[in-house]
Amino acid sequence: MKIVLFGKGGQVGWELQRSLAPLGEVIALDHDSADGLCGDFTNRAGLAATVRRTKPDIIVNAAAYTAVDRAESEPDLVRRINALAPGVLADEAQELGAWLVHFSTDYVFDGSGSAPWRESDPTGPLSVYGRTKLEGEQAVARCERHLVLRTSWVYAARGANFIKTMLRLAQEREQLKVIDDQIGAPTGAELLADVTAHALRTVQERPELAGTYHLAASGETSWHGYARYVIEHAREHARKAGQPIRVRPEAIEAVPSSAYPTTAQRPLNSRLDTLKLQAAFGLQLPDWKPGVARVLAEVLDSGKA
Ligand SMILES: NC(=O)c1ccc[n+]([C@@H]2O[C@H](COP(=O)([O-])OP(=O)(O)OC[C@H]3O[C@@H](n4cnc5c(N)ncnc54)[C@H](OP(=O)(O)O)[C@@H]3O)[C@@H](O)[C@H]2O)c1
Repeated sequence: MKIVLFGKGGQVGWELQRSLAPLGEVIALDHDSADGLCGDFTNRAGLAATVRRTKPDIIVNAAAYTAVDRAESEPDLVRRINALAPGVLADEAQELGAWLVHFSTDYVFDGSGSAPWRESDPTGPLSVYGRTKLEGEQAVARCERHLVLRTSWVYAARGANFIKTMLRLAQEREQLKVIDDQIGAPTGAELLADVTAHALRTVQERPELAGTYHLAASGETSWHGYARYVIEHAREHARKAGQPIRVRPEAIEAVPSSAYPTTAQRPLNSRLDTLKLQAAFGLQLPDWKPGVARVLAEVLDSGKA
């Protein structure tokens, strides 16, 4: 099988390079063109030409404009990257009969209520990022053989994310304030990549499983609960690694979102119901904590915090 992976340098793209490798030949691209191929999502003609030239059996799109606040000030660019470019991939994949995997987000919902969102629930994005990701999902569905995987609160040892921000702040300060009224599940890029590879193997035999799925770690927490977990687990490890943490877990203060106004509005309820995915692909999604602990250890061991 031939697989073209876009966004190879992102948190999820990096892990997909590893997890997709046993499935076949992986041509991994990022912004920069290589060997005359184009992975730049602002160049739709280049993307179409790349798919036509490589003729993949599977396209995996891990590229996206993910700077949620900055997105508010450049909606046209965000739409080109998150919606129009995935649409080109969908049309090209449909023409070829290829599979297209695309990642989306809990930000397609309005965050109301407290029940975990199901795939069939009405969407209502609150931000440019959320609206363009929703439009991207709809465009991707033009390809019959598609998997749209909505996830939440992604972290990895590679790339910038909440874990690293908390570690850095906790080394600099003795007190931290963290939001406690947004609820979701931190989800590792490793888990996303492994489940993607498993799902792709499964759909080769069962193409009727094409569709949209929620894919996130099990359990739930707030950003405040997440921060406390990170700091509690990091303290001993960080001391041994010579990067002592100054803040005590009890000194992490819980504050409402209103205490931290951001340019883009975030959903309060980011819980995703993953039963559909678990049933369709015969999987059990692990609790969010062990994955966070693993990446934390990796970050501290490598001194990348
Ligand atoms: N991060 C989260 O918390 C989160 C939550 C829910 C869903 N998701 C979704 O999960 C997927 C993967 O996210 P991630 O966390 O891996 O994001 P990420 O680390 O920000 O990676 C996104 C990748 O897209 C690339 N990219 C940006 N603009 C591009 C362009 N014009 N052309 C080509 N590549 C471009 C980035 O390259 P540069 O870095 O070089 O710009 C980066 O490699 C995305 O679809 C995202 O919407 C993420």
